[in-house]
Amino acid sequence: MVPSKSDPILIVGAGVFGLSTALELKQRGYEDITVLDRYTPPAVDGSSVDISRIIRIDYADPVYCKMAREAYQGWTTEYKDQYFESGFALLSETPRNDWIEKSRNTVLEIGGKVEDLKDATQLLKSYPNIQAKLSGLSGYLNRLGGWADAAGSIQKLASKCSVEGISIVSGPRGTVVSLKKEGSRVVGVNLLSGGYLLASQIILSTGAWTNRLLDVAHAASSSGQPVGFIQLTTEEARSLDSTPVMINMSSGVFCFPPTPGSNILKLARHGYGYANEVTVQTDGSDRTISTPKFESSNAQTGFLPEDADEDLRAGLRQFFPKFANRPWINRRLCWYTDTPKGDFIIDQHPTLQGLFVATGGAGHGFKFLPVLGKYIADCFEDKASEELRKKWRLDAPVGGAGAMKGDGSRAGPPLRWLTNVEKAKL
Ligand SMILES: Cc1cc2nc3c(=O)[nH]c(=O)nc-3n(C[C@H](O)[C@H](O)[C@H](O)COP(=O)(O)OP(=O)(O)OC[C@H]3O[C@@H](n4cnc5c(N)ncnc54)[C@H](O)[C@@H]3O)c2cc1C
Ligand SMILES: *[C@@H]1O[C@H](CO)[C@@H](O)[C@H](O)[C@H]1NC(C)=O
Repeated sequence: MVPSKSDPILIVGAGVFGLSTALELKQRGYEDITVLDRYTPPAVDGSSVDISRIIRIDYADPVYCKMAREAYQGWTTEYKDQYFESGFALLSETPRNDWIEKSRNTVLEIGGKVEDLKDATQLLKSYPNIQAKLSGLSGYLNRLGGWADAAGSIQKLASKCSVEGISIVSGPRGTVVSLKKEGSRVVGVNLLSGGYLLASQIILSTGAWTNRLLDVAHAASSSGQPVGFIQLTTEEARSLDSTPVMINMSSGVFCFPPTPGSNILKLARHGYGYANEVTVQTDGSDRTISTPKFESSNAQTGFLPEDADEDLRAGLRQFFPKFANRPWINRRLCWYTDTPKGDFIIDQHPTLQGLFVATGGAGHGFKFLPVLGKYIADCFEDKASEELRKKWRLDAPVGGAGAMKGDGSRAGPPLRWLTNVEKAKL
C-alpha cells in the first residue's frame, strides 16, 4: 500500500540509496521525510564516501547499462563539478574475458562506442602517460566514463535534501538499534539515544549493516574490499596527466588518475572480499552474519589483512611502477552489500508491513546517484516495470545464506572470513 503524501516516512541510512530516495520522494510531494544515520553524510565509514568512484556505462547486463547511461546525463549536467571524464579502460590478461566481451556488446547494442584493444599497448596512443606494462593485456576503452568525487557528490545531494525540507539526523539520535514492531507491522525505530521514532513507512537503506536490523541473510551479505591511497607530489601527479580509470579484470584491481588538488592516487580491488563474522540478535534469536563494525567508525584503524595489502601493493606495482614502494597514506576495507547476482534489493518487505528495503549496491551502486532515487521511488509507489520489480525483489527469508558472487565481473581470491586476530584489528 502506497502511503499518503502527508504520512511520516523514516529513511534509515544516508548513503546514496537513502539520500537519493529522500530527495525524489520529497520532489514527488511526500511532505514528512526524516533521514537517520550514525554519522553526518558523507558517513566516514559508509560505502558512499572518499575521493572517487568509477562512473561507467559498461555493463554486461543491459538494464544497468541503460540506467548508467541515464545517470551519465546527470553526471555531465547537475553533477558536472563532481565528475571527471577520464575515459575507462577494461583490461585482462586472457585473450578473451567473458564479462568484458559481454559488456562491450551491450554497450554497442545501446548505441555506445568502444575502442577495441586487441593489444592494450594501443592505449598509449591516447594516453602516453600510462606507466603500466600493457603488453599481454587486451580489452577495450570507453571514452565515455571516468570517475566522480564520491564524498563531494554525497555532500551536494545531502545539501539538496536539506534545502528541500528533509530532516537529516545523525549521531546517537540518528542511530537505529532495532525496528519497532507491532505484530507484523513495523511502526518505527528504536534509537541508540533511548526512545524511538514512529512513522507510517520505514525505508531501510542501511547498506552493509542491513542484516543487523533485519534478517536478509538469504539475499545479501557484506564483504570488505581493500582500498589504498598514496600521496604524490604535484610534479608526480602531472606525470600522470590525462590517464584513464583502468580495471585489470584478471586481478580485480582498479585505479584512478591522481585527484586534482590533493594529488592522491587511489587503488582498490573489485573482488570477493573479506567477511566479518558477527552474531546479532533480532526478534530474540541469534544469527551469525557478515557485517562491518557498527558501534564506531570502521574506517578509523586503517586495517587491511596482510594478503589484501600485498595484492593491492602488487596492483600498485603493475599500474604505477614508478610509485611501487610509496607507503599508503591511508588504507581501509570498504564494505560491499553483496547479492547473489549483483542485483539491487528494492522492494516492500514480503511479510512486514510498513517496511521498504533499498540496498544491495553489490559494489556498483554509486554511479547511479543522479537517477537511483527515481528508480527506488518508482518501486516504492509500485510504478516500476514488472521486469524491474522482479529483478530487485526481496523474497521471504529461506534460511541460510547462498553465495553472493555478484554479476560475474569480479576477480581475485575467493571470499575469506577474517580470523579472530584480524577482527580484533578492524
Ligand atoms: C571499495 C568500494 C569501491 C566501490 N567502487 C564503486 C565504483 O567505482 N562505482 C560504483 O558505481 N560503485 C562503487 N562501489 C559501490 C557503491 O559505493 C555502493 O554500492 C554504494 O555506495 C552503496 O550505498 P548505500 O547507500 O547502500 O550504502 P552506504 O553509503 O554505506 O549507506 C548506508 C548508511 O547507513 C547507515 N546505517 C547503517 N545502519 C544504520 C543504523 N542502524 N542506524 C543508522 N544508520 C545506519 C551507515 O552509517 C551508512 O551511512 C564501491 C564500493 C566500495 C566499498
Ligand atoms: C593484471 O593482472 C594480472 C594477474 O594478476 C597481472 O599478471 C598483470 O601484471 C596485471 N597488469 C596490470 C597492468 O595491472
